[in-house]
Amino acid sequence: MSQKDWRKSVVYQIYPKSFNDTTGNGEGDLQGIIEKLDYIQYLGVDYIWLTPVYESPMNDNGYDISNYYKINEQFGTIEDLEMLVTEAHKKDIKVMMDIVINHTSTEHEWFKQAYADKHSPYRDYYFFRKSADTEPPTNWESKFGGNAWKYDAKTDEYYLHLFDVTQADLNWDNPEVRRVLYDVINYWIGFGIDGFRFDVINLISKGEFKNSEKIGKEFYTDGPRVHDYLHEMNRHTFGDKGLMTVGEMSSTTIDHCIKYTAPDRQELSSVFNFHHLKVDYVDGEKWSNAKLDFHKLKDILMEWQLGIYEGGGWNAIFWCNHDQPRVVTRFGDDTSEPLRKQSAKMLATVLHMLQGTPYIYQGEEIGMTDPGFDDIKQYRDVESLNAYDNLKAAEYDEQEILTMLGQKSRDNSRTPVQWTAGENAGFTSGTPWIDIPSNFDKINVEAAIEDEQSILQTYRHLIQLRHKHDIITYGSIEPLFMDHNELFIYKRHYNGESWLVVANFSKERVEIPEGLEINGQVMIQHGQMIDSQIDGFGVIVVAQ
Ligand code: GLC
Repeated sequence: MSQKDWRKSVVYQIYPKSFNDTTGNGEGDLQGIIEKLDYIQYLGVDYIWLTPVYESPMNDNGYDISNYYKINEQFGTIEDLEMLVTEAHKKDIKVMMDIVINHTSTEHEWFKQAYADKHSPYRDYYFFRKSADTEPPTNWESKFGGNAWKYDAKTDEYYLHLFDVTQADLNWDNPEVRRVLYDVINYWIGFGIDGFRFDVINLISKGEFKNSEKIGKEFYTDGPRVHDYLHEMNRHTFGDKGLMTVGEMSSTTIDHCIKYTAPDRQELSSVFNFHHLKVDYVDGEKWSNAKLDFHKLKDILMEWQLGIYEGGGWNAIFWCNHDQPRVVTRFGDDTSEPLRKQSAKMLATVLHMLQGTPYIYQGEEIGMTDPGFDDIKQYRDVESLNAYDNLKAAEYDEQEILTMLGQKSRDNSRTPVQWTAGENAGFTSGTPWIDIPSNFDKINVEAAIEDEQSILQTYRHLIQLRHKHDIITYGSIEPLFMDHNELFIYKRHYNGESWLVVANFSKERVEIPEGLEINGQVMIQHGQMIDSQIDGFGVIVVAQ
């Protein structure tokens, strides 16, 4: 593949379990991805990112790795992965792997040895701690609910798990742990991988084990040695090899993200943060029901855009991933057909015109919606099932819990890609591991390819524009009319050129603010502009 600046890239995220099943077992596989490479090429993205395909008991769908060097049989073999990388490269598509090194599965050999024998050298690969009393060592909470320490009566010690009880946190303060993890990364570089997405990588330096007033986050988020460790990892692995990296940053800050990504610090290429998605939470609480706070969304996005740009860092930008609900349901409107299409195109345009590297999550490009599950039996995700139990225990009403899950559950985005209007949306000839939304008869890839006005065509166009116009990648950003209640307006500036973006987040027609000149060459337009009014969910981009 030609050596172009990775900053100009667009990444397509694949959640293999729900992508395409070639064996009929109801779960996607690596051959299924190979089968769809033509489609990915047609979309026009530069990279695909595979969420974890390593050996795993799949309690957290692969984010619980039991062997970093083996491929999960349900996805295929190492030869399948080799074929996928080779075939992707032939089509000029690069491949990123997900690396989960904040924790391993408790099924990993290291943990098994550590757990079985208190004196094993592997004991110090994890955090085993005694407690002075009958309480766990600290009051930190697991991100999936409950205390973050699991008691082991055999040794009267607890181990730390910031996520599921089967995901034990690795002790990065142990140099041996860092060394074996760098070996893992170097193995995959040698294999021919072009980049990495590092799972919850800002949680690797734990700080002090003390009781917390904020469930522990302040001790382990962007912890005391995190930058040293990332710099060291960079130097020992991908640093000088031209790989693209993106770190998933939980509850982070702009200052830290500048440090993570400023090129001279030699840590990572880019970062994901999630602040702009917590705009339908109540008091920071995910398990709640709230509408989008539009002003908050704009304020946060712009604060990050400006902060990271001015600090010389680099954002990864996204609406969707395998942990987030579908954006068209969340911030758009999927209640009727024209509205779904219009709002999905508007949301895509707003995001892709921002500064940073855009990520598209499988199915987003055809405007897939949340499935609207209304029975707990339809859910599969460990976080959602834990939340259900915890909310039940806290005596929430069943219907209220289901409404919360319907709005926030990670399963909303994990339903299979809707390929065709045929049986099981063309995803599998067997029984899908999770229900498929009934709208697949209309919302599917086949229909989107045939329709010249589809959401898919908008995504293709946005990718092509990015490849062609440097202003989208390198331009500075200027927020405008931030107080407006319906419109999201900003400009990009580069080498004397400016692009204006005006997007209507409401379904009503809206008056363009006085003083805003929409003259110039139209680069993108969805919806009409009549008498200085822009259509509901309309969007326009003009070069000025
Ligand atoms: C990340 C992943 C998520 C996983 C968690 C623990 O947030 O995206 O799916 O559950 O890390 O590994």
